[in-house]
Order: sequence, then structure tokens, then C-alpha cells
Amino acid sequence: MYEHDVVVVGAGGAGLRAAIAAQEQGADVALVTKLHPVRSHTGAAEGGINAALREGDSWEDHAYDTMKGSDYLGDAPAVETLCQDSPEEVIQLEHWGMAFSRDDDGRVSQRPFGGLSFPRTTYAGAETGHHLLHTLYEQVVKRGIEVYDEWYVSDLAVTAEDDPESRSCHGVVAYDIKSGELAGFVAREGVVLATGGLGQVYDHTTNAVANTGDGVAMAYRAGVPIEDMEMIQFHPTTLPSTGVLISEGVRGEGGILYNGADERFLFEHGYANNAGELASRDVVSRAELTEVNEGRGIEDEYVHLDMRHLGEERITDRLENILHLAEDFEGVDGLSEPMPVKPGQHYAMGGVETNEHGETVVSGLYAVGECACASVHGSNRLGGNALPELIVFGARAGCHAAGGEFDPARITVGETGDSEVGSVESPVALGEAGLSSGDVAADGGAAAAPGGAAVGPDETVQRTVEREQARVDRLLTKEDGVNHAEVRADVQETMTRNVNVFREEEGLKTALADIREARERYQDVYVSDPSRTFNTDLIHTIETRNVLDLAEAITLGALARDEFRGAHWRKEHQERKDDEWLRHTMLTWTDGEPRLWYKPVVLEGGSRAYEPSSRSY
Ligand code: FUM
Repeated sequence: MYEHDVVVVGAGGAGLRAAIAAQEQGADVALVTKLHPVRSHTGAAEGGINAALREGDSWEDHAYDTMKGSDYLGDAPAVETLCQDSPEEVIQLEHWGMAFSRDDDGRVSQRPFGGLSFPRTTYAGAETGHHLLHTLYEQVVKRGIEVYDEWYVSDLAVTAEDDPESRSCHGVVAYDIKSGELAGFVAREGVVLATGGLGQVYDHTTNAVANTGDGVAMAYRAGVPIEDMEMIQFHPTTLPSTGVLISEGVRGEGGILYNGADERFLFEHGYANNAGELASRDVVSRAELTEVNEGRGIEDEYVHLDMRHLGEERITDRLENILHLAEDFEGVDGLSEPMPVKPGQHYAMGGVETNEHGETVVSGLYAVGECACASVHGSNRLGGNALPELIVFGARAGCHAAGGEFDPARITVGETGDSEVGSVESPVALGEAGLSSGDVAADGGAAAAPGGAAVGPDETVQRTVEREQARVDRLLTKEDGVNHAEVRADVQETMTRNVNVFREEEGLKTALADIREARERYQDVYVSDPSRTFNTDLIHTIETRNVLDLAEAITLGALARDEFRGAHWRKEHQERKDDEWLRHTMLTWTDGEPRLWYKPVVLEGGSRAYEPSSRSY
């Protein structure tokens, strides 16, 4: 058994920032991560970090753009916190040596990005995430924070009181991928989930193969509500054959989208008469697919992104990485040819319900970054708002988990720090709505959480280790059955076909049936490689259960939300229904099945109220 004050799960931008903040409070911190930190998916973030740094800009304008971009499903206090804290966190990165791109006068450069009313996206070429990750990792090394890399956290050690709000998280169980050792990690003060995205629920995604939504799924099964899961972002410019991201920074620098008839369709077909290519992502993705569906695409699949007119000097100065990606993954020379692009899954707006300190309803359990939902993105995230979320809320959660008070001097307006988690409005039994999950996986469910009200931290962790050991032994000794890869591929295929940019009831129901059928097959899963050393088959098999649970959560939320808001387009419901749907979709694992309920969106910020208005670009 290992023991630390704070255990951070995942070492991308959010996890590293949380670990640094906790260490600054004097905590003994461990980072437990299935990848080496600098291989985390934050490293694939390209375009930049939004922060109101310059004269003429303000955090209030950033907050307004973010609320509008969210299609009024973001919570105003959290959005205001993001926008207020972001400048200081960016300056902190600069002081830690992050290699930002610079203007001729030496100032950190900023570029336009979609949905922004001011060019406020700071960047480091088109590899901003890579530089951010390395900057933060340097700080972790300098501070001597203990890193358990290539340790896969497979479960949370949470007590089993009936009411999830009475439960406590005392640590995690992790599998050492190198040796096959399964060990408990006791967290004396807190566990911070920072496990990133869930893109592997889809088969065309910008996300790395490691992005299997582990933290969200583990928290969900431990009884923590998950929020707005149906809100999935499809990035408009991904390479058709691989899903590799071509940064919005290309359009920020002036790149143009053309259809098969060489029309600048965002203007010429009236999708975004003002902002054109720099409309928000949901708008641009729908426009591209409409062009393709109406026969104006290229090879019935994609459109063209052209940056040739920017010239070699500007491209190599600000977008060099894009040239390499287009060449390496699509065989296209971006200096002399337009690049083929189409929408691909990119980001989960929803996640584990948290407040602005990253706290969940389970005492001692925090979540930050893409796996969390402090509710700053609502139904559509603006490009450039993911990286500030990592550092702003990473810092807050790490500090709070270590028992620190977040520096109140940094909060200049409003009551931004006391949001509640877990307030219930209108619970809906899925059985009543005809969406019951039926039999659930034997390994799944919060009821399986170990321990009990009277059980202490060490015993809670020990019991979870024993349960996980039994699961791993069962998987490794079972002689035949279903291979997880077939199950995962089927789920990815149905999600990409039916729960994509355009959604309709019949397709959503088909997806739900497919996922549940795949879940049945997963009951018989086995691992063909019996070894204990670098057994990626075993890890992927465990991850696939997370993919299944989250695919179901996304689809349930999408079926229930009968309106069109942000990234959630419904064929049968073509308008935003503010009277009915200014509320968050909440899902809790209760008595062996998902339970859907809702809570209101908070539109009242510290500085103003954000009245929903019609959203055009
Ligand atoms: O397009 C991009 O560079 C991605 C940025 C983001 O998702 O924030």
C-alpha cells in the first residue's frame, strides 16, 4: 500500500497543475498516470489558450463570448471564474518559462479564434499544449513530486453508504503496467481525477487512444452525478483518414474553407454571414456536413481548408506543426495544396459534476479538466477555452484538496466560489421513460463500491484492492470468450453513425440498443495475453467497460433532450426550448441503473445576468 496526502490521477495539464498547487500547500502529492506525463493528450492541443490580457479586451467580454458560445448552458459563476483567473494563470506559465509565440514588440502573441469578439488566444505556434505540458512537468520535477507513471488507476476506493453524498473517497487502486502489481494508494486528504477526455467512444476522433473516459466512468459507478454528457464537440477540421486535428489556429490566421465547387460556403450559403470560418465550432461542423450531404462536398466526405495564401513565412512561423501533420498523416503539402478536412469528435463538454473547487458530492473526491463539468462550456465549448480550464480549475482543485484556501484576492467580482453540487430537480426514472438499462455488467455499479459506513480509509482501500485483484485474475485466467476490441469497435461505430453532429430519435434508439447488446457481450470478455508485463490487452479490456458506460450515458442524455442547443442538434426538434431546457442533464448510477435528473442552469453571474438571446455568428 502506498500513502500520500493527495493522489492526482492523470498527468496532463489539469493533473500537473493540480499537483503543483497541492504541493504549494505543503501536501505530499503523488501523480498516478497510465502514461508518462509528457505523453498525455494535452500535448496534442494545438491552437491556444484564451485569456483577456490586452488593452481593449476584458474578462467580462471573454465571459460573454463563452456564455453565448455555450448556447446558455454554461453556469455563469463558473464561466466568470474561468475568465477572471485565466490571465493570471497564463502569466504564471510565462514566468515558469513557457515558450509562447511573441509579437515583434516582445509581447505574447494572441490570435483570433472561433466565437471570440477579440483576438485573445495566446499560443505557442500550433503546439501550445506540448509547450504547456513540458512547462508544467518541469515544475513537477523541480518540486520533487512523486510520479507513478505507467500505473493504470482502475477503481476508486469509496465507502458504500446508501446516499452517495455521505460517501468518502479514501484512495485508488492502480495496476503497475510494467510489473503487473496491483496496489492501493491511500489518499489522506483527497483524490483528484484529471483523466482527460473520452474520445475513444467514437471511431473518428482527435483524441488519443488513451482517452477512454476512465475518471468519468469510475466516478459515475461510485455514485457521483455526471452532467451534460450528451454535449459532445465535433471539431470542424480533422483529417479524414485519421481524425488528426488541424488547428482552428489555421482559420484564426486567415485559412479559408471551400466546398467542392470552390465556394466559400460559410458566407456564400449563409451559415455565418459575419464570422464565416470563425463562427463557433458547432456552426462550422454542421455547415461542412450540410455541404457534403447536399452534394457539394469533395469525394462525398470532406471540404477543403486552404492556407496557401498566408505565405510560407507566416505558415512556418505560426503553423509549422500543421504542415507536418498534413504531410505525415494525409500526404498533403499545405504550402501548395488545400488540406482535406471534416468534422471529428474532439471534446466532451460534460463530465463529473463539480463545483469551482473541483469538489464532487463524494467527500475527498475531486475532478478537473476535461473529465470534469464545472459547467464552463455548456453545450458548445469555444476553441481555446480548454487549456485555461485545465490550469484555472487544476490550480483551484489542487489547492482545495490539500486543505488550502484559494487566494481570494484573485477573485475580484461576485460570489464565484461557493457553488453547490448535487442539487436535485425533477428526477426521472429511466424505466418510466422506457430507457431502462436492463441487466448491467456484473463488474459495474456504485453498489459494488467496497467498504461501508463503519469502514476506515485503509480498509476501504484494501477491500477495493481485493475486489480489483479478483477482477484482474478472472480476466487473465478465463480461457476464451469475447475480445474487448470487437465490443469497442461496435460501440464506436454506432456512436459515430448515430450520435454525431446530426442526431435523430431513431438513430439514438438504435445506438442505445447496440450499446446494450455490446454490454451483454462484454460479460463474456476475456484477455488472450496472460502475461503480467505490459499487458495492454488487459488495460484496454478494462477501459472498454468505461467506453460502454459513457456511450450509454451520452446517448441517454441525447435522447432525453428534445431540443436543439449548441452541439446538440435534433432532427425532430429544431429549436432551442428555453422554457423547458435551461437545465443540466444529470445522470446518477442508482440501484444498478442510470437515473436521469435535471438541475437548473445558473445564468446569474457576479457581474451581470446573461439573458439567452438568439445566437448567430
Ligand atoms: O483547433 C485547435 O487548435 C484546438 C483548440 C481547442 O480545442 O481548444
